Amino acid sequence: MKHLQVSCREAEAARRALERSGVLHLDCLPQREGDSVLWPLCGAAEGDVVEREPRLRQRPAGDYRQRLPSALRKLAPRGFDLLGHAAILRLSDEAEPHAVPIAEALLASRGQLRTVALDSGVGGRWRVRTLRVIAGDDDLIVHHRENGLRFEVDLRQVYFSPRLATERARIAALVRPGERFLDPFAGAAPFAVSAAAAGAQVLAADGNPAAQRWAERNFALNSLSSDSIKFRIALAEALLPGLQDFDRVVLNHPTARLRYLEPALAATRPGGMLHLYLLADRGEDAAAETTTVLAGNGVVEAQRLVHPFSPGRELRVLDIRRGNGQMSKL
Ligand SMILES: C[S@@+](CC[C@H](N)C(=O)[O-])C[C@H]1O[C@@H](n2cnc3c(N)ncnc32)[C@H](O)[C@@H]1O
Repeated sequence: MKHLQVSCREAEAARRALERSGVLHLDCLPQREGDSVLWPLCGAAEGDVVEREPRLRQRPAGDYRQRLPSALRKLAPRGFDLLGHAAILRLSDEAEPHAVPIAEALLASRGQLRTVALDSGVGGRWRVRTLRVIAGDDDLIVHHRENGLRFEVDLRQVYFSPRLATERARIAALVRPGERFLDPFAGAAPFAVSAAAAGAQVLAADGNPAAQRWAERNFALNSLSSDSIKFRIALAEALLPGLQDFDRVVLNHPTARLRYLEPALAATRPGGMLHLYLLADRGEDAAAETTTVLAGNGVVEAQRLVHPFSPGRELRVLDIRRGNGQMSKL
């Protein structure tokens, strides 16, 4: 591999010049020879260019920001969501004018990436992400692996978040074989599939008609038959009142907060468990408000942080045990 040989005194200035012109090879280490430093090259450079065996970095350029000029490095986010071949980036207002070079640096940093898209947030009735592809292929149908399961989803049609993977693993670990599991806000059905794979009998539903195709695709990808998991296109307000005796219910519509708690608790069997996801202000006691709404028909056994959502707000989950008696009107 070609290296630029410079004196130790000139080494730092040479590194900056090579980085600026994009020809410094970031996956290889510089080498020292007597009074010289040899910078690894990934393009043409002027000066004393010599041939040497490359020394690969142990962890090749883990942080894509190393590929950016230092002024941009401070603006580029450290974190992003990875879904199969796609990376989903959120940028601050200050960073957004530099979206293209940031996205291109990220695209170049990982071999499996083909698409980088800018995320302007989740919105609308079906909580679908507003995404703009800024580098690579315009393809947002992703194949994602999570907790040993496979998912395929069109991110422009249905909600999906890889940030819930730990939570889905937690719920799946609670599932007892044969239990009746209800997911009325299923989207592409990642919770429902996780529960069915753990042995539950699952009913999944969503109001977004586009969710059905992806949910059923995910049943097939994980070899789940209609004996163990079913999907219905339905609004929760129409579906829930006709249901009862589920051992476990997942209410994952965080912006709706407590809106569906009453009919969902009525669909849970006495002594069964309901997992309620909601957005709360940091420091807010969502359990106290929920306990008031439950009016003695259930108990909040635990309240957990799932992940921070925005400055001052976070996604929480409340594990609610339905009481053993008849339900009084909430
Ligand atoms: C935050 S997403 C959660 C999706 C899924 N549980 C997941 O973890 O990927 C909320 C879902 O609720 C669905 N939804 C919104 N309002 C609904 C309603 N009234 N009835 C049924 N589904 C609804 C949306 O289409 C969306 O898929």
